[in-house]
Amino acid sequence: MAEQVRIHEVGPRDGLQNEKAVIPVADKVALIDLLSASGLRDIEVGSFVSPKWVPQMADTDRVLAAMTPVEGVRYAVLVPNMRGWEGFVAARVPGVMYEVAVFISASEGFSQSNLNCSIAESVERLTPVVRAAEDAGVPVRGYVSCVTDCPFAGPVAPAAVARATEMLLAVAPMQVSLGDTIGKGTSETVARMLEAVLDVAPATGLAGHFHDTGGQALANVETALEMGLRDFDSAVGGLGGCPYAPGAPGNVATEAVLERVHALGFETGVDGDVIAKAATLARGMR
Ligand code: HMG
Ligand code: MG
Repeated sequence: MAEQVRIHEVGPRDGLQNEKAVIPVADKVALIDLLSASGLRDIEVGSFVSPKWVPQMADTDRVLAAMTPVEGVRYAVLVPNMRGWEGFVAARVPGVMYEVAVFISASEGFSQSNLNCSIAESVERLTPVVRAAEDAGVPVRGYVSCVTDCPFAGPVAPAAVARATEMLLAVAPMQVSLGDTIGKGTSETVARMLEAVLDVAPATGLAGHFHDTGGQALANVETALEMGLRDFDSAVGGLGGCPYAPGAPGNVATEAVLERVHALGFETGVDGDVIAKAATLARGMR
């Protein structure tokens, strides 16, 4: 049997959070519902963050209420603090499988820009979220941003990424998704970063989250595959960016990752035809 790669679709969150135009809830829901029919098992659908910081995600409660969840699909939402947890608890629909994603940065500059606090403070704020999720039986995923480069501080030391990963894992066991937030990573910098992180976490506990600014994202996926990672984040239609990371364009496109990993002999269980339709829909939202 071929080896499996698991794709975590982040377009409805990481993609749409950065769009200038207001995207109606109905359009977001149409995209999510189509993605739910593709065989994807992980779809990130929104954020419970400050609406002043990311107005595009302010309607996540309405998205959760209106989408049609599919059994076997886990729907992720970003939650930075207890205020966000309370928003999620008020909005969640009984019986749906959710995942809460917490996020920190490997660089202090980006932490201040994205979360208005230091890395250590961000861990303090997310710790009660993780505890609440554990108590509620909701799985947690962690992100580390700026794993190769920071928009403010330049190159990020691999040791800083390993340290940030350890900080998340000290809170609770979780999959840690390693974000090349501004898409400046190359095969070399990604490999050096992964060598350091693999000293503190097994490849099975890690995911690659590559933005495609430099056109290197697919090469970085391959580097990470060679180093044992089997989980990758991507955004249908190459939607994406982070409003607090100048120069962060789209995530690597889901359809491109699918094509590459399938060509390399991996299985994903994801239907490329449905993803192609979703990519057309996503591109129409820009
Ligand atoms: P702050 O201003 O320091 O927060 O922001 P505060 O605690 O001082 O609260 C200020 C106001 O915000 C208060 O309201 C709070 O109630 C409210 P007021 O009294 O002024 O009316 N507030 C909230 N409202 C709704 N939901 C909340 C919430 N928290 C506070 N959860 C904060 C701190 C973390 C809230 C802010 O910095 C924030 O929302 N940041 C999120 C930024 C974000 O979403 N960035 C994009 C996602 S990360 C990303 O894209 C990277 C990733 O893809 C990986 C990669 O590529 O590297 C994951
Ligand atoms: Mg991202």
